[in-house]
Amino acid sequence: MNEINVAYCDVVQPQILGIHPYIPGKPVSELQRELDLTYISKLASNENPLGASPAVLTAIQNELKEIARYPDGSAYALKSELSEFLSISPEQLAIGNGSNELLELVARVFAGPGDEILYSQYAFAVYPISAQVVGATGIEVPAKNWGHDLPAMLMAITEKTKVIYLANPNNPTGTVFNRKEWENFISQVPKTVIVVLDEAYIEYAQAQLNADEYANGIDYLADYSNLLVSRTFSKAYGLASLRVGYMAGCKEIIQYINQLRAPFNVNHYAQAAAVSALADQAFVEKVLLLNQQGMRQIQEALSSLAIDSIPSAGNFLCIDLGENALKVNQKLLEEGVIVRPVSNYGLHHFLRVSIGTQVENKHFIDALKSVLLSMTKDL
Ligand SMILES: Cc1ncc(COP(=O)(O)O)c(C=O)c1O
Repeated sequence: MNEINVAYCDVVQPQILGIHPYIPGKPVSELQRELDLTYISKLASNENPLGASPAVLTAIQNELKEIARYPDGSAYALKSELSEFLSISPEQLAIGNGSNELLELVARVFAGPGDEILYSQYAFAVYPISAQVVGATGIEVPAKNWGHDLPAMLMAITEKTKVIYLANPNNPTGTVFNRKEWENFISQVPKTVIVVLDEAYIEYAQAQLNADEYANGIDYLADYSNLLVSRTFSKAYGLASLRVGYMAGCKEIIQYINQLRAPFNVNHYAQAAAVSALADQAFVEKVLLLNQQGMRQIQEALSSLAIDSIPSAGNFLCIDLGENALKVNQKLLEEGVIVRPVSNYGLHHFLRVSIGTQVENKHFIDALKSVLLSMTKDL
């Protein structure tokens, strides 16, 4: 058989060809290699600037002896703790290799070629990718004030709609819809359409908003069997590297998701760390307080520079730098500050900055001031 001239694009599943892969934040090591900088602030991936709770580090050390064993494929201990924390049954929970895995699994369970998956303009990039992977048609509903236009999303539902992805707060914009808007929406979605409420940043919203200014998806599970709520340990709990998140929903749907996931999708250290992180709510409080202070620090600096940003309930801020956004990004890199360009979302005038420690935030603010000054001198 002569295999030398095979063009694999002819044999790959056709939907794979059109996928634009998720673009992660630039790693610190890469910038270090490129520019030989000594001090770098990475404010590009909405990570936890405090790291993880010290209790988590101890828990991982205590478990090192288990490294040669497969993890508990049912994540029994983590599900037990979560079920108590959320006041739902363990059978209502699926644990994922990051919530990302679970978001993609929903599309695989419910949609295929000829089906439609809805999401908002500027919503998290994994939703269109999830639709494409299964060959479904992704329908992007225009945003309103940078956020979800829920009435327009209701109008966009057709017979072909299988899944609707919503992020509250949304990444990269940080926008939220409030409880009333949510209740109006979920009560009108047909029960055969699965609504995925992605609450990766819910802890930050809870800390920054009043109870009626956002919706806590878990409160609605009892009334809506078509609702799935995803959350993560990557953000407020500081476990991004371990890859662990969860999805809550009705038992039947959760069972389908569990049927499809790989048998040992979440490693032992991620499970042990998540159990320990969940127990240390005092650490989470510290994280949320730091985030609020940092958000204020950056917002005040931006308003003194007359720079607009999209109001955010997350741990990041999308800032409007007009046509110079990508140029500013490049110059910030040269100053050792990594933020995230978001032109892949169609947000060409914006850069997204994650809230860091006070020192990292100051590094960003000082670098931004000096970059903007140098650019006005260049004019
Ligand atoms: C809105 C949103 N959902 C889900 C995720 C996925 O998080 P993870 O896979 O780390 O749980 C992210 C990560 O940035 C996100 O911003």
